[in-house]
Amino acid sequence: MVVSLRTMPHPDRRRFIKLGLAGSAALAAGCANTTTEAAPGSESPHAKGPLVLSTWKHGMAANAKAWEVLGSGGDVLDAVEKGVAVVESDLSNRSVGLGGMPDRDGHVTLDACIQDHDGRAGAVAFVQRFEHPISIARAVMERTPHVLLVGDGAERWALENGFAPRDVEIPEVRAAWLEWLRTAEYNPVVNIENHDTIGMVAMDASGRLAGSCTTSGMAFKIHGRVGDSPIIGAGLFVDGAAGAACATGVGELVIRTAGSHTVVELMRQGMDPTEASREAVQRIIRQNKDMDGKQVGFLAIRADGVFGGWSVYDGFDFAVRTNNREELVPTGYDRTWEG
Ligand code: GLY
Repeated sequence: MVVSLRTMPHPDRRRFIKLGLAGSAALAAGCANTTTEAAPGSESPHAKGPLVLSTWKHGMAANAKAWEVLGSGGDVLDAVEKGVAVVESDLSNRSVGLGGMPDRDGHVTLDACIQDHDGRAGAVAFVQRFEHPISIARAVMERTPHVLLVGDGAERWALENGFAPRDVEIPEVRAAWLEWLRTAEYNPVVNIENHDTIGMVAMDASGRLAGSCTTSGMAFKIHGRVGDSPIIGAGLFVDGAAGAACATGVGELVIRTAGSHTVVELMRQGMDPTEASREAVQRIIRQNKDMDGKQVGFLAIRADGVFGGWSVYDGFDFAVRTNNREELVPTGYDRTWEG
């Protein structure tokens, strides 16, 4: 069975078209989500924390949990771990956690990473049967000299370190896999139904940053495939001196450009988070002739609390939580689709 990353024809497939000025129009219309707001009791034009951003609609529930942690004086690293864990536990979610879509061999394999203000990081990739890969990633960071554990070794280490496996059987997921086997279509449409990965970046009231990212990856991927989500610098990058960024979308495109690292480094050079995210998106577009149906989006917080995001296509919403806001908003984008 041959699997290609190229989008294959599918009855539900939406056709993407390029509208070259869409991004500029979004910027001009103020849709770019470069949000600056005065911190409570401050004349500063920039937001300082607390602030939580996360990808897609499922980010609303994740942000609510993270906010609860920050609001009770909790650590920003606890906030980003517990926030995305809510989505990992949601078995109706088809792109995060054990409810995710399987690979082409019928296995749900999970990737996650976490990083703190000081750049300490932990990650797991290609792990099965654990509800909270994000917590294993954090444990890797805190209890080992390593950053990334994968596959059997990661699972064995998790078992030895108190993480209990969980077996989940979801008839709808199994039916989708059997249907995929029957049609052998490979259709990585990553922008529809607000799905694909949860990435979260957050800042506490004192300006400390942290981030997390967790996913079941692409549906029907090759067994063993790992995307950007557990790769520090790709799916997530945090450097308290510069900022934090996370990514969603087709992981291969993000890995090739070290996407989140790019966004943070551009912010370090003074770029606005929205412009930095847009430049990272445009590097991907420049590098790939065929972007048909391939969504990538970035979210970023600069060290001064200014935040923003950008995506290849329209339709990428992110959840924002500040002292004054709790909402789902679209990023700016470079292309739009008909659908
Ligand atoms: N962005 C998730 C993945 O490509 O696996």
